Amino acid sequence: MSKSLSKKSLPEKSSPKEVAAAASLDAAALPEEQAEFAEAVLAGLSAPRKAIPSRFLYDARGSELFEEITGLEEYYPTRTEIGLLERYAGEMAEAAGPAKTLVEFGSGSSRKTRLLIDALDGLETYVPLDIEESCLAQAKAALEADYVSLEILPQVADFTKPVKLPEAASGARLGFFSGSTIGNLDQREARRFLTNAGRSLGPGAGFLIGADLRKRPETLIRAYNDSRGVTAEFNLNLLARINRELGGDFDVSAFRHEAIYDGRFGRVEMHLISLEDQTVTLLGQRLRFREGETIHTENSHKYSLPEFRLLATDSGWRHEALWVDDDALFSLHLLRLPG
Ligand code: AVJ
Repeated sequence: MSKSLSKKSLPEKSSPKEVAAAASLDAAALPEEQAEFAEAVLAGLSAPRKAIPSRFLYDARGSELFEEITGLEEYYPTRTEIGLLERYAGEMAEAAGPAKTLVEFGSGSSRKTRLLIDALDGLETYVPLDIEESCLAQAKAALEADYVSLEILPQVADFTKPVKLPEAASGARLGFFSGSTIGNLDQREARRFLTNAGRSLGPGAGFLIGADLRKRPETLIRAYNDSRGVTAEFNLNLLARINRELGGDFDVSAFRHEAIYDGRFGRVEMHLISLEDQTVTLLGQRLRFREGETIHTENSHKYSLPEFRLLATDSGWRHEALWVDDDALFSLHLLRLPG
């Protein structure tokens, strides 16, 4: 962050805890997760180029809205990946080899996972990891009803950090990271994620990863600017969440959603654009927004096949197999950690 800029646009900079105390909000009493949210939001909105990490889009409401996005006509990734799993799950399971434990990173509703679980003979344990507890509870209940002999051990976890798997999650392990959630991470973050996941899963583990592919920008723009405005609501929910959880006074209607494609990075970016000059008060800080100024809220990287292969091998994984739909929209990759 540029010091001169933040001095000009903000009152004396203090730590989020001090700020919260000044606002007579007891930060120490905030649950750890909210303190982290507060810190990330204040830091991100005080920077010269405002940005908030995309994982904060996924509170209970955000996760619900994302589920709705997955059913939109313009949003091709989910149905394309499901199509691949429906068609090739058998092949994928065979290539992955016998797995006792399936570990899913960012499991969400675990809807797609069923196709994989059905194909994996001898699976004993399923460990869904997600940052949103309500998703995990719902997914566990729904799966338990249909898979009576499968042990389900949900873990609330931020998968961008190293994850310690439960003792019981032993035997041959298979990781699953679907939906092109890996696209939320930039190159460095994606490498760190794959390295950490390798440490969690252990030598010899397989890892099945969904990655959205590079394609015509028009198709991408449509997928992230849907005509029914569900993606806009998903993005704007971040400001509503800040109001709900951190006592902010954002006028949500004074911002608009925009998604752009940046070909240099091969990524879709989601932004919230201020419709006017305005000041927002949050945790005792006054935050200024100029008309047209943006908050960058999400990256969604699109991979070429060689690019994804390189990412995997650079992170210590072997690239073993690949499945792509007929329209070359989406890919699933099987990686292996040398054992
Ligand atoms: C859940 C990260 C895979 O990047 O396509 C959908 C999130 N954002 N529409 C994606 C998202 C806007 C989605 N991922």
